[in-house]
Amino acid sequence: MKMSVIGGGTMGNGIAHVFAQNGHDVTLIDVKAEYTAKALKTIEGNLARQVKKETLTEADMKATLARLSTATDLAAAKGSALVVEAVFESFPVKKEIFSTLDAACGPETILASNTSSISVTKIAATTKRADRVIGMHFMNPVPVMKLVEVICGQATSPETLACVTQISKDLGKVPVTVQDYPGFISNRVLMPMINEAVYCLMEGVAERDAIDSVMKLGMAHPMGPLALADFIGLDICLDIMNVLHDGFGDSKYRPCPLLRRMVEAGYLGRKSGRGFYEYEQK
Ligand code: NAI
Repeated sequence: MKMSVIGGGTMGNGIAHVFAQNGHDVTLIDVKAEYTAKALKTIEGNLARQVKKETLTEADMKATLARLSTATDLAAAKGSALVVEAVFESFPVKKEIFSTLDAACGPETILASNTSSISVTKIAATTKRADRVIGMHFMNPVPVMKLVEVICGQATSPETLACVTQISKDLGKVPVTVQDYPGFISNRVLMPMINEAVYCLMEGVAERDAIDSVMKLGMAHPMGPLALADFIGLDICLDIMNVLHDGFGDSKYRPCPLLRRMVEAGYLGRKSGRGFYEYEQK
């Protein structure tokens, strides 16, 4: 099947990688050729690592790369069975992309968004095919993580859900169906836990390492919540808490003032070299 992926960043290159590795012809679209070239290089590096680990043969790597093509125009998505959008987490940017894709693609095309917090219903309403718009929330790193949260918007049809569920299974993923409410399941459960860990730090309930140790050693989490927040990005954590707070209008989702303060200070976690922990800058 022909698939298209819009955005070749962290998530987009992983999604294109997984589709191509599983036999689909993939068109990877970004705004500049240098971005698609960078994405292809990342995919090549990740495939080479699989070959080194002997989880992929050299021939399969070559065949995977041969199934990938790139473009800088959304019109190149025409003829796709499925388009997965993975551009910046901004509604105005996604709105523009979905209305352009809606006009460019035939009625057979399903349009999916990898959004982690924007309403799938709201994205679908920017098109004339809301029944064929769905959320496909892959986890980072996409080639490694098994879960795909499949999000049904208000108008998503049962046929669209069945098709995307089957495609996800064929990729070797485990799709989980979720209705379109703020934060879906993943972020609705994860982010309040992280936020509560930041409250514990702010209130002096325990030191940073103690908080992370409790969750790692006591709850068998692979990473403590504060280290995980640094990994995700504190700005992203704050944005998602705001989505939950605004979406439910419930004070239990209020972002911790220390989280806000750290974001204001530019302490964004790994990507800025400093969050709850300090990191060597590459
Ligand atoms: P990123 O910043 O790494 O990549 C975004 C890419 O989209 C960039 O290459 C950019 O050039 C491209 N782009 C921007 N506007 C475009 C346009 N008009 N047309 C084509 N390409 C365009 O972002 P990332 O982290 O990959 O996130 C993408 C989406 O995935 C967001 O909606 C995010 O919420 C979601 N997500 C992110 C996860 C993560 O761990 N990074 C996990 C799950 C979902």
